[in-house]
Amino acid sequence: MSITSGLTQTVSPTSPGGQSLAVNVTNVTHNFLLDKQGDTRAIEALHDVNLEVTDGQFVALVGPSGCGKTTLLNMVAGLLTPHTGTIDVLGQPPKSGRRDIAYMLARDALLPWRTAMENVMFGLEVRNINDRQWREERAREMLSLVGLEGFHDAYRTELSQGMRQRVALARTFALPSDVLLMDEPFGALDPQRKIQLGQVLLGLWEKEPRTILFVTHDLHEAIALADRVIVMNPRPGHIAEDVPIGLPRPRSIRDLQTDAEFHALYSRIWEVLNHD
Ligand SMILES: Nc1ncnc2c1ncn2[C@@H]1O[C@H](COP(=O)(O)OP(=O)(O)O)[C@@H](O)[C@H]1O
Ligand SMILES: [Mg+2]
Repeated sequence: MSITSGLTQTVSPTSPGGQSLAVNVTNVTHNFLLDKQGDTRAIEALHDVNLEVTDGQFVALVGPSGCGKTTLLNMVAGLLTPHTGTIDVLGQPPKSGRRDIAYMLARDALLPWRTAMENVMFGLEVRNINDRQWREERAREMLSLVGLEGFHDAYRTELSQGMRQRVALARTFALPSDVLLMDEPFGALDPQRKIQLGQVLLGLWEKEPRTILFVTHDLHEAIALADRVIVMNPRPGHIAEDVPIGLPRPRSIRDLQTDAEFHALYSRIWEVLNHD
């Protein structure tokens, strides 16, 4: 089953290194205007951001609250337009509702009147994938990949927070989208659940590679998951450093907790986060 079935094929431009670019952010600056009792003030949420993400890369954006992570993701999703600069996703300007871009948030946003299975199928229905049998097979496959084999018929209230996010992960990954945007998807989970879900995500991504932009303020999570960690700092939001993560794959997030290279990367990036 191809994940791109039902999609219009897009041709990606190439990076100077010759690899295709999935996401290309060039000189992006964005201000929010705040109107306080007639006094208008501009907040520079992003300042001169440049980011090239090649096809299939897993990139984590990390930084303290307010450094512009969500703003940047919303722009890549086409929900916000940058004041200056340009963004291309798979060679085209972003537009909300594009089928080749999927977005997953911290809230699971499961429909309470639908079972786990029906929630996973819902995303496919919204994308007008009309083949019901395909939708069912896809939903079943995804639920088993996220470890919810026995919970197809469970409703939201019957699932723990971690299980709800598993369903949300299955629903997002079921979509045949080449670019996946994730805004603190495991932010509401306890540390153990976070590690488990991170491992599930890595399993899905290794099975069905795609480009991921993953926002988190958890540096452990960023390093364990990503090929690159983009460190952002606030006032104004900007990219402070772009750190390649050369840890071998496949990765066991649990084993990484005691890995010397993992800790060396952590210390190095921690310095950058505390520097600005
Ligand atoms: N809709 C908005 N109106 C006004 N200011 C906003 C809005 N959205 C974000 N901001 C401001 O822009 C900056 C970046 O916000 P955001 O992208 O949400 O950061 P992060 O996701 O890294 O926490 C913050 O100073 C925030 O207060
Ligand atoms: Mg945010």
